[in-house]
Amino acid sequence: MPSLLSINDLSQSEILQLCQRADEIRCHGFQKNLHDKLVALLFFEPSTRTKMSFETASLRLGANILNFTSEHSSLQKGESLEDTIRMASTYADLIVIRHPDDKAALRASAVSSCPIINAGDGKNEHPTQTLLDIYTILRHNQLAGLTITLAGDLKYGRTIHSLIHVLKLFDINIQLISPKTLSLPDSLKKEISHNIILESYHLKDGLNTDFFYMTRVQKERISHPNEVPNEKEWILTKELCEKYAPPHMKILHPLPRVNEISTNLDDSPYALYFEQAKNGVFMRMALLEYALGVFSCT
Ligand code: NCD
Repeated sequence: MPSLLSINDLSQSEILQLCQRADEIRCHGFQKNLHDKLVALLFFEPSTRTKMSFETASLRLGANILNFTSEHSSLQKGESLEDTIRMASTYADLIVIRHPDDKAALRASAVSSCPIINAGDGKNEHPTQTLLDIYTILRHNQLAGLTITLAGDLKYGRTIHSLIHVLKLFDINIQLISPKTLSLPDSLKKEISHNIILESYHLKDGLNTDFFYMTRVQKERISHPNEVPNEKEWILTKELCEKYAPPHMKILHPLPRVNEISTNLDDSPYALYFEQAKNGVFMRMALLEYALGVFSCT
């Protein structure tokens, strides 16, 4: 695997084999087989789960970590992303990058001498989140025949954008639920036109589903204040779920949650989002093994 810039860089078979490897690690343990590797984590944007889970995954596999914080780096002196990457790639065996620019991962890979993993580039993509999302779904269900609702900020949510590229590979029914101002970009809608069974601007309409994938409004990426929806209409509660959702429905969310999932759902059988976050470590261990050549897909 040279670099993972987009989820499209992986085939359907590679995605499924990575899910299988993540599950093996979870169920049967792992070796510290990356003890001679150095993973650089270059996060130019805030992160809790993605950064910590890459750190955890690296350390558990025996790799060392090169940490970087943009506010204490030469970026403050005006250094370019390209120069930072060019140099970091001569130190490390692998770079994991998160950046507010939609093209940052691509720009990084153009100058890097080591593989790049995209941990979120602007509103563009978040492929490693998609891997753990698919793994989480697969632990509960087969993909074929499922109905999945994508809800919230479908315009700026990069986790949604990457996930869509994978959902379209399977026979999955997709329901799109968003505020009018934050609907899915047309180019992505076109990609899944055969899968879409419903599009609505009301939260409750999407609750008749197997998986409800909720996302927060990406306030930091919104270009016009008119795009911000009425928050009160975008809160998923236990009461709504009990009224409109089938009992087996599961809620996913990449986190962080702001107010869009009521905390009264956290201990309910609907909530899968904390397990989803935990799965991030197993999936990122599998991915690091793959990227650093100690696991291969057939
Ligand atoms: C997501 C992201 O950064 O895009 N968070 C994450 O990595 N789990 C979702 C978000 O910030 O809303």
